[in-house]
Amino acid sequence: MQEPSVNSSPLHLEHRFATLFGEKVEFEGPLGASGLGVRVSGIDLNIPLRPAQVELLLDTLGRCRLLTIAGQDLDRFSLAAFERFANHWGAPVAHPSNFLRGGKPAQQDGVSDGVIEYRPYADRRAAAADLTLPGQVACLPHESPAVLVATNLLGESERHGPTLKRGGSWHTDIEYEPLPIYVSMFLVHHAPVARDAPNGQWVEPSAESGPAPYFPGSDGELMELRKRLPLNGETAFADTAAAFAALPPEEQAKLETVRVCRRLNKGDEGWLAPLVRTDARSGIKSLHSPVWASRPGIRPPVEVHGMTPDESREFLDRLEKHVLQPQFRYDHVHRPGDVTIWNNYMSLHNSPPIKTRIDRMADARLLYRLSCKGEPSLVLPRNDDPSWIATNVPGGYHSPDSIVGERR
Ligand SMILES: [Fe+2]
Repeated sequence: MQEPSVNSSPLHLEHRFATLFGEKVEFEGPLGASGLGVRVSGIDLNIPLRPAQVELLLDTLGRCRLLTIAGQDLDRFSLAAFERFANHWGAPVAHPSNFLRGGKPAQQDGVSDGVIEYRPYADRRAAAADLTLPGQVACLPHESPAVLVATNLLGESERHGPTLKRGGSWHTDIEYEPLPIYVSMFLVHHAPVARDAPNGQWVEPSAESGPAPYFPGSDGELMELRKRLPLNGETAFADTAAAFAALPPEEQAKLETVRVCRRLNKGDEGWLAPLVRTDARSGIKSLHSPVWASRPGIRPPVEVHGMTPDESREFLDRLEKHVLQPQFRYDHVHRPGDVTIWNNYMSLHNSPPIKTRIDRMADARLLYRLSCKGEPSLVLPRNDDPSWIATNVPGGYHSPDSIVGERR
């Protein structure tokens, strides 16, 4: 059987979009040189989707790894409508920034375990967004623990901090649970438009040298690839399907046997997860989180089954270096009204350097994120087994009936 191609022309998808959503749909792609990403416009996500339309969106993500559905009417498209849409992709997952584990923030240095308590909106860091440029921008009202607000509207607490937040470390979302998140999505309200840094971009590269936010000890070439990040607030992606496809067949075959031990906290027994996954819809193979320590200081580095910790690092640093090469990279420009969905099993991503302490709208960056686990659902509400939810979704969260409707 012929291997599915990672960069085949998406013409057949374009045709299906026209058939199912109408001739007004415009289709642009691939967005990245590796074949990753398409952008479609002319679809109003306020209108509930028919099963065949959901199927097409799922097929598109399985082939293209990243899908932007552009042009949502931000006066009408609420966070409840966004969460309803997310339910088609999987069960929405509460974000660690929105809950406490054992009485402390769930995503910070050191061990986190214990009972999960959701934080009300007023206690979240995002609440400060409303105080940053009062009268000009505010967060959409919500209490859902699944909604993560990604913003540089940080209120008074940041007034005396640094003016630039450096980029993050390359990762996939929540790879450290036995059932990882496979789909994440952004709804974009504001993206920075200022380009008045001395280099003519939004920000200049960070002047900091040294390995942070990474652990010391990786080679210089890898560090340079890691830190080459976009400067206009784009989200950086690396295509782990194209990177896998570019390897010699013998190496692909070896990688398909590799299991990685992942754990939530240092000292946990952990579990073994495959390094290579096959997309159920497209048959495309990809590397899932081929990174030794994607959350330095927050989650423990992973170990390759059968290798020592040092061997594991060397093996995964080499793979990360392969994946972060320019031909597999794509910097995604955010535009207001975009819903951008990415497949975490088929890509890595990273947050760019971001201007902080802002005092004008031209610098504002305000995105809402949702992430999903498990199987897609063509119809809503989803029909997840409560025991599956209890095992796989922190705090047992599921979208309320007010968002997804009542089960009949
Ligand atoms: Fe992320």
